[in-house]
Amino acid sequence: MMKTQVRKARAQDAAAIQALINAFADEGKMLFRTLPEIFLILRDFHVVEQDHQIVGCAALHLFDEQYAELKSIAVDAACQGKGYGRLLIESCLHEALALGAQYVFALTFQPEFFEKVGFQAVPRDALPSHIWTECLFCPGYPDCGERAFLKKMT
Ligand SMILES: CC(C)(COP(=O)(O)OP(=O)(O)OC[C@H]1O[C@@H](n2cnc3c(N)ncnc32)[C@H](O)[C@@H]1OP(=O)(O)O)[C@@H](O)C(=O)NCCC(=O)NCCS
Repeated sequence: MMKTQVRKARAQDAAAIQALINAFADEGKMLFRTLPEIFLILRDFHVVEQDHQIVGCAALHLFDEQYAELKSIAVDAACQGKGYGRLLIESCLHEALALGAQYVFALTFQPEFFEKVGFQAVPRDALPSHIWTECLFCPGYPDCGERAFLKKMT
């Protein structure tokens, strides 16, 4: 029987997380990440482990007292449609609640998925301006076409 668990990432997961993300970056769906970039936010990552293989990841990054970002969600193409994306979101939201975040936002090219998992579409300028700092270093800046989604936690 297949053994699946969602858990926080460990140091040994970093290369697998990078491989997952960069496979989708090759298709233009995500931004490329170097290993040092992954390690900078490794403690934000949650992973899905299936039969000792990392097949999904997502990160929850705290911005300030109120806002956290759900970012870098990816599920291996062979494992999509099994509910792993939803499990990753639930795990991140659980952590957001425990950390005291009031809002979790996401910037995404996958609006239908985020609607399905309980986020609401909001205008991009509804999000606080300081969350955009990372965007300044993106090739897609200033108009990448990502949509903003928000979930109120309390
Ligand atoms: C988006 C992604 C993480 C979804 O992961 P997943 O494991 O396939 O999602 P789930 O199986 O948990 O799906 C949850 C629900 O969302 C729906 N859904 C998932 N992806 C969808 C999509 N692209 N469009 C519409 N609905 C989608 C599923 O049908 C399911 O609905 P249901 O509960 O009514 O059956 C995955 O497709 C992925 O890794 N995509 C490539 C990387 C990417 O684009 N990441 C987002 C960067 S912002």
